[in-house]
Amino acid sequence: MTPLADLATPALLVDRERMEANITAMASSLGGAGIALRPHFKTSKCVEVARRQLDHGAIGFTCSTPAEVTLLQDEGVGDLLWAHQPVGPAKVAFAAEALRRGGLMIGLDSAEAARPLAEAGVAVPFLLDVDTGLGRTGVDPARAVETAVRLASLPGFELRGVMTHEGHLGKYGTDRTGLEAAGAQAGACLAEVAASLRAAGLDCPIVSVGSTPGATSAPFAEGVTEARPGTYVYYDSGQVRLGSATLDRCAQTVLTRVVSAQRPGTVIVDAGVKAMSSDGLAGGSLGTVCDPSGRPLEDVVFGNGNEEHGYLTGPGTARLTVGDLLRVVPNHACGTTNMWSGLHVVEGGHAVERWPIAARH
Ligand SMILES: Cc1ncc(COP(=O)(O)O)c(C=O)c1O
Repeated sequence: MTPLADLATPALLVDRERMEANITAMASSLGGAGIALRPHFKTSKCVEVARRQLDHGAIGFTCSTPAEVTLLQDEGVGDLLWAHQPVGPAKVAFAAEALRRGGLMIGLDSAEAARPLAEAGVAVPFLLDVDTGLGRTGVDPARAVETAVRLASLPGFELRGVMTHEGHLGKYGTDRTGLEAAGAQAGACLAEVAASLRAAGLDCPIVSVGSTPGATSAPFAEGVTEARPGTYVYYDSGQVRLGSATLDRCAQTVLTRVVSAQRPGTVIVDAGVKAMSSDGLAGGSLGTVCDPSGRPLEDVVFGNGNEEHGYLTGPGTARLTVGDLLRVVPNHACGTTNMWSGLHVVEGGHAVERWPIAARH
């Protein structure tokens, strides 16, 4: 048991009680409606966190990178979705090997991307990736049937269902009503695509939506069978702004100290973008600055950072002096996780355990 004040800064902290409350709340909200939960692993990249999600009813995980898939497969976790296109020789070879190990589906949006994998002579269970508004990967709903037919005709390919990532909900900002309406629409759109595939004679048991802002709307559209939120396990300042959670549910913080106060109105902390990730720089906040107990300092802004230095500004910086300990709720939990090799589990103001973070780039 180490008091926070004795930890070397910066340090990545996860509040155990909040994380476990987030895990159980999402499991019960979706489970109560009969919707399967396949959390995205990119948020924690931590097997100890994943185990707790499985203990509370997660059916498996969504992964974005081969390293995430491999980490979970090595841990014996099955029912994985690799929600990325297996393009390029190295990824095709990885996909073939990971598929041979079993318990893996791949998200696909074109026969062009899938064809090299068809030559590997392996069974390829897949979800058709559908664009419901984000404009990233995903086939246009109007071309879903023809794309699914082409994919399903490749040797070894087995259609298991459809998926979408309703990441466009972030554009609704503080308009939670608009966000939830758009989430419900994304879920309904995907369910409609599933119905059209079935009408064309294809099997489509899985209808999978996935995001944290959409987790209160998209999964509850008629016909959706599973949800893949990731960020919910920690939440973050970005999700607080979108109304997905309140600040007191945010489990991940970066512990930092004031290291310099040479100019009035600005203090410098030892958490820069290599501690926070730069997700948030463009929006003007790398995170919400709090005191060591987690109480937000409303009049302090974390607006800029260099690699290992953070710039805090605002009237509240007049109260801060060199050596002061602070905790920052990152703007984006997943980006922050990717900057760290390990986290401290915090209970009652003490670091009680250290868990590794793996599968980083
Ligand atoms: C394919 C996919 N599914 C699920 C998620 C989880 O969304 P969130 O980060 O909002 O929890 C993401 C996030 O990027 C994603 O890309």
